[in-house]
Amino acid sequence: MKIRKAAIIDPLEGLFMEEAIQEAAQQTFMEEEAYEFQWSPLDPHPKQQAFLDFLGLEALYGGSAGGGKTAGLLMGALQYVHCSDYSALLLRRTYAELAMPGALIDLSHRWLDSSPAKWNEMMKTWKFPSGASITFGYIQHPGDEQRYRTSMFQYIAYDELTTFQENMYRYLFSRLRRGKGSTIPLRMRGASNPGGEGHDWVKQRFLLDEKDTRRYVPATLLENPGLDHESYLASLQELDEVTRKQLLEGDWDVEDDRLIPYSLITSCETPCLWDDGVTSKPRPQLYIGIDFGRTRDLTVIWIFELIGDVLWTREVVVLDNAPFSFQKSEILKRMDRRVVAVRVDQGGIGMQMTEELEEEFPSQVEGVSLNSSNQGRLGKALKISMENRNIRIPTDPKIREDFRLVRKIGQRGGIPILETERSAVGHADRFWACALGHEAAGTFRSMKPVLISRQPQLRTVKG
Ligand SMILES: Nc1ncnc2c1ncn2[C@@H]1O[C@H](COP(=O)(O)OP(=O)(O)OP(=O)(O)O)[C@@H](O)[C@H]1O
Ligand SMILES: [Mg+2]
Repeated sequence: MKIRKAAIIDPLEGLFMEEAIQEAAQQTFMEEEAYEFQWSPLDPHPKQQAFLDFLGLEALYGGSAGGGKTAGLLMGALQYVHCSDYSALLLRRTYAELAMPGALIDLSHRWLDSSPAKWNEMMKTWKFPSGASITFGYIQHPGDEQRYRTSMFQYIAYDELTTFQENMYRYLFSRLRRGKGSTIPLRMRGASNPGGEGHDWVKQRFLLDEKDTRRYVPATLLENPGLDHESYLASLQELDEVTRKQLLEGDWDVEDDRLIPYSLITSCETPCLWDDGVTSKPRPQLYIGIDFGRTRDLTVIWIFELIGDVLWTREVVVLDNAPFSFQKSEILKRMDRRVVAVRVDQGGIGMQMTEELEEEFPSQVEGVSLNSSNQGRLGKALKISMENRNIRIPTDPKIREDFRLVRKIGQRGGIPILETERSAVGHADRFWACALGHEAAGTFRSMKPVLISRQPQLRTVKG
């Protein structure tokens, strides 16, 4: 059945409409309608039942491998298929993962092939006699989530949630809606083991940021009656210790080797734009760090303003695949009298730019070679300032992910040996621009730790 547009409540447009959605989700609904499991051949085990019983906005079924998470998500999708105005969307990061044996589509065929539900191969959708539907999809690349821009679902579930980026998850809140008068709860669901690209944001959201409308249900392997525990435990013993703890014990806290802990990044986050209400001096003192890239890497210009003992990020400019002349014009635009010092990455692609800038602005610009020992020194200094709360950075999932790309693989003479990973957001280009900006504020290192609890309202930063 088609849902008429006029019947949609809350014409939610755009990103991150979580609050409005939460309000809608709290509306009453008929609980007794929720439990009809004739579509699933399995009886939910107690943890799956706890996951299904929660009808609030967000839930993560997480922890150890083999706990019945994927099956739990599909059971959740089937909870309301008796309602005509119900649509569910089940997601994996790639199509290949969606279609693998044992994965969501395969499982759905095992459960539904002999049922009255009809499969549409082209649409990857099950249609139920009531008119309800369950669709399978994937969000492989940033921006792919836009594919669901015109759709409306009451249940959206991400299998292996830590394989997704936070933006992909948050965007689809705007697709979680229901028709006027509908009593179907709006549910955003995830299932995941710890570890993986999205480990940090998933842990933060579901295990640390508590909310009444959000629940974490820990999955344990031994509770799943559908698995041969002995052989599965034996095969998990072959894994390295960190992965074993994540998969076997569902441990979200095993130590990793990233230089900057995730909690340290979030503790330095705050709105940072010029007009955030923080009084700057009549003549602001600016410090700039620039990390250069061209074809593979980003060029990032990171601008700090020093106020008291704190470096406030004023602007983060991210240039993707920009030609030399454009990069230079973006830098020149920002080179005014307020700029006290600029430190630029003089290696590789940055060499010519550094020379030109040093010549034009001899008292402000200085090249820094990001060799191994300088990387260690700059990284360590930035980390100490972050620990002392001398740094303010914008709240941005890409910055979080970028800062986590720097790994500490050893130590020499008190200086960490760092290695930079690559991911969809870049090659820690933002981190190095920030570290160079911090280096530019040279005197800053002698400053005392401070604690500022100012939390002005959230703003978006360009880039
Ligand atoms: N309630 C249940 N009763 C019987 N068998 C179940 C139940 N739940 C899941 N199973 C079976 O247990 C096996 C593992 O389940 P599932 O794939 O859902 O686990 P998972 O936690 O997603 O695993 P992974 O971590 O590997 O993704 C599957 O064969 C599934 O059919
Ligand atoms: Mg699974």
